[in-house]
Amino acid sequence: MAGSFNRSSMALCLVWAATFALCLVSSLAKLHRIDHPVNSDSLRVLVVGDWGRKGHYNQTEVAVQMGKVADVLDPAFIISTGDNFYGSGLTGTDDPQFEESFSKIYTAKSLQKQWYNVLGNHDYRGNVEAQLSPVLTKIDSRWLCMRSFIVNTEIAEIFFVDTTPFADKYFTHPGDETYDWSGITPTRKGYLSNLLKDLDSALKESTAKWKIVVGHHTLRSAGQHRDTVELVRDLLPILKADDVDLYINGHDHLVQHISSRDSKLQYFTSGGGSKAWRGDYDLNKEGLKFFYDGQGFMTLEITETDAVLIFYDVFGKVLYKWSVSKAYTSI
Ligand SMILES: *[C@@H]1O[C@H](CO)[C@@H](O)[C@H](O)[C@H]1NC(C)=O
Repeated sequence: MAGSFNRSSMALCLVWAATFALCLVSSLAKLHRIDHPVNSDSLRVLVVGDWGRKGHYNQTEVAVQMGKVADVLDPAFIISTGDNFYGSGLTGTDDPQFEESFSKIYTAKSLQKQWYNVLGNHDYRGNVEAQLSPVLTKIDSRWLCMRSFIVNTEIAEIFFVDTTPFADKYFTHPGDETYDWSGITPTRKGYLSNLLKDLDSALKESTAKWKIVVGHHTLRSAGQHRDTVELVRDLLPILKADDVDLYINGHDHLVQHISSRDSKLQYFTSGGGSKAWRGDYDLNKEGLKFFYDGQGFMTLEITETDAVLIFYDVFGKVLYKWSVSKAYTSI
């Protein structure tokens, strides 16, 4: 009797453990989805990256111009391509840099909108959980940062991807830097393969007219960091196979547009939120349509049929405007 009781409780225990493990895997795997309907014919967004320096290095000047452009554009929300706080993210949810580099900088009324933020490599040098914490949203209701998530606006679906854990060098050659890999290691491989699998299925299921992917790191870049080889190897094939229209990133502290030869995918870098002028670039980069090695930001305006992207500089001057239409291809 005692033996069979033990066997059945052991079996129960195994079932329970397997279920728990499955739940854990599927909860890790699921990309959080946010519905943000725009109630308008167009989705209008501002994009800035690589910014949090307590107003220094023209961060404040860029913020002022973002406010003026947003006055006219009336964006639904603002996207940050990461490296939100320099040099090492936030120390905790009580780090005064959150307000010094965010709340007290982007003060224009027109910028009091939802901000959707991803993490950059510098954010991973601090306390990652702090940036992901709802405590920050209590301090400033605009703030929302997640590792990977989806924002569905009906006109476009935007897929935010946590790119830092892809880059080998932060793991193999961290130098003097320490990174907060809690939640990533020891299962980095599993974390990345789950993320790619979930992104792939979410992109395939998407019925949105426009699919936009946002990450911190470059896929294609003429800037200092050039292409991120791990993303070219692991992420790019998915974006191409799943008909993604735009990949938008930061990391290089500049603004640039690169087109593809073999797909419709267009690469836009908006990483000019503060310190710029690296002076290290390759203007012979294949597909390079526009490059400005300085500070600025980007706007994006999308209707069912057309998309317009504009780069602005630190004076609010239009540097570059690009548009694409699906009006003829949709028939
Ligand atoms: C601020 O912007 C101006 C105009 O582009 C530039 O000349 C200057 O070097 C920038 N300052 C810094 C610290 O980046």
